[in-house]
Amino acid sequence: MYIDLAFTPAELEKKDLQNKTVVVIDALRATSTMITAFENGCSAFIPVCTIEEAQKLVADREDPSFLLGGERRALPVEGFHLGNSPRDYRPEKVSGKVVIMTTTNGTRALVAARQAAEVLIGAFLNLSALCRRIEEAGRDVLIACAGEKEFFCLEDTVCGGAIIGHLEKDGLPVQESDSALAAKILYEYFAEDIYGMLAACEWGQYLEKMGLGKDVRICAQIDSSKLVPIYREGKVYLDR
Ligand code: MLT
Repeated sequence: MYIDLAFTPAELEKKDLQNKTVVVIDALRATSTMITAFENGCSAFIPVCTIEEAQKLVADREDPSFLLGGERRALPVEGFHLGNSPRDYRPEKVSGKVVIMTTTNGTRALVAARQAAEVLIGAFLNLSALCRRIEEAGRDVLIACAGEKEFFCLEDTVCGGAIIGHLEKDGLPVQESDSALAAKILYEYFAEDIYGMLAACEWGQYLEKMGLGKDVRICAQIDSSKLVPIYREGKVYLDR
């Protein structure tokens, strides 16, 4: 199995996605928030890139089961029902709902991955379940880091490296690209203290400064979920 890793959505757009399993990661916080929402009974997400697109989609539907969610600079968007904190996505708010979501980097990465054979939602929260799913699929893998505004970010790369490390530990014969190997080495450096890495990276520090440090703790809960949402035909949902 060949494993490659794109540090940013812009890099992802230059890759060949055909016949690949693409894993989209926005460890702080979009993909961690999506997994939490599904744990709490959310039906689906529709990821979009802009606030305007999200507002138009919800206005076109006039359906109370559709909610608007997302952030800009980590804060909820004015007029939206939900932000991008996993703590917002409680069962009483999201059970049975479809969330039209726009975040700065996470939904951008998802949209960039849409041509792949299969797109999986990844985070530290579902690491082992994700690896099982990748192994079952048996395709070559491209890990798509959401990054930060088109640049490298540490937390997504380390999470990507954790996936690669786990697949190798499971005995899978893995051939890594240079970026995938670099991510694995970074993961090995931080493996004993993933929370420490999340709290120390730039976005983790920013979240702490904004009073959102509890979210960083939630996003560090390795294997707290067995759910692996997929992104297909414009929607993120659970297919099993
Ligand atoms: C993003 O998509 O850029 C992030 O999920 C930002 C955040 O932490 O809200």
